[in-house]
Amino acid sequence: MVTSEMFTPTSQRGGQLSSLGSRQSRVLSGMRPTGKLHLGHYHGVLKNWVKLQQEHECFFFVADWHALTTHYDEREVIADHVWDLLVDWLACGVNPSLARLFIQSRVPEHAELHLLLSMITPLGWLERVPTYKDQQDKLREKDLATYGFLGYPLLQSADILIYRATAVPVGEDQVAHVELTREIARRFNHQFGREPNFEDKAKEAAHKMGKKNHKLYDSLRRKYQEQGDQEALEVARALVQNQQNITLADRERLYGYLDGSGVVILPEPQAMLTPAAKMPGLDGQKMSKSYGNTIALRDEPADVERKIRTMPTDPARVRRTDPGTPEKCPVWEFHKVYSDQDTRDWVQQGCTTAGIGCLDCKKPVIGAVLDELEPIRRRGREFEEDPEAVRSIAAEGAEAARSAARDTLEDVRRAMGLDYG
Ligand code: TRP
Ligand code: SF4
Repeated sequence: MVTSEMFTPTSQRGGQLSSLGSRQSRVLSGMRPTGKLHLGHYHGVLKNWVKLQQEHECFFFVADWHALTTHYDEREVIADHVWDLLVDWLACGVNPSLARLFIQSRVPEHAELHLLLSMITPLGWLERVPTYKDQQDKLREKDLATYGFLGYPLLQSADILIYRATAVPVGEDQVAHVELTREIARRFNHQFGREPNFEDKAKEAAHKMGKKNHKLYDSLRRKYQEQGDQEALEVARALVQNQQNITLADRERLYGYLDGSGVVILPEPQAMLTPAAKMPGLDGQKMSKSYGNTIALRDEPADVERKIRTMPTDPARVRRTDPGTPEKCPVWEFHKVYSDQDTRDWVQQGCTTAGIGCLDCKKPVIGAVLDELEPIRRRGREFEEDPEAVRSIAAEGAEAARSAARDTLEDVRRAMGLDYG
């Protein structure tokens, strides 16, 4: 029987989120290699990754196959962007000793799971994903009536499920894809049910907790199953929760064996909505490559300065002596991100009374952006000058990712009856 409890991410099962170090929750996210990253990515995504890598087991990957679904006619471009993307991540402080960084196509297990999942994925589910029609409309110049493009969100589901990720940090636009992933996982678990040898595997897992814990686990389990002792169940769950040295799969088995619910082969992930730090663009719209209003993370300082100096301001300030309204000015949006209260008061006062000029007003913003980008540029340059280091980080990341992916695939193959020979 499948219970809703089984779909709760492991990290939430025993109560509070795991403390630093025990890292029971697994985070996975990816980005398509379609261009150099800019401040919008830094504030919206990467700062969050840098924080997450301290608290969770993290897998971050370059979704090159996903890029190919729309950019299949630009292969050189993808190749360049793959390495640029990794350098940008490293430059921002994503740390390969804390998180696994890798390139999707170097972990072919994603593709096998994609294929296997395709067997149980109704076409209608894919056709109904909102990005399918939206992107086709948006990218009219491209022929996106392809099999690969329709399967885009299913490939994403495979990316997530192959690691049994519990949480997927994404922006609003990707929530529908995580939702589809949950539906696919549910359908898979329903269809293929318990893994064969579940009991043996659960017993093996209990054994791995050590003699004392094993005994305690067995007696608590008995108390719950024979006498319906709820407290024994809670205590046993906490015991499982506190095990440091067992795999996620074993943990799931131990939970499932406790309450008799069996095991979930592919756990449902949760979307972890990235806190909406909306980085304004140079023109006041959201910062985005398609609007041409970005500051790239590795822009030269002189370019950064020029871009901000030439930013549009409140159109009411034609002359230096005309007062303005910060709320009508894109520069004010930057002050909201970068300036302290004193500076903001100075802007409000100076702008509305024409006490300061727009160039004066932009100076602290220029300083703050340059300060923020300086260490990023410096680290970025170090990695740019050492492409071998980046390659070996990606190779090691792929090795580690493959080993996790293989574990899942083994269970999936067995569940689907492909474990002969
Ligand atoms: N589709 C995502 C995007 O465009 C990239 C992506 C691919 C992804 N696979 C993923 C994100 C898995 C999270 C998890 O941004
Ligand atoms: Fe914008 Fe500052 Fe000029 Fe006011 S003074 S219009 S806030 S740049």
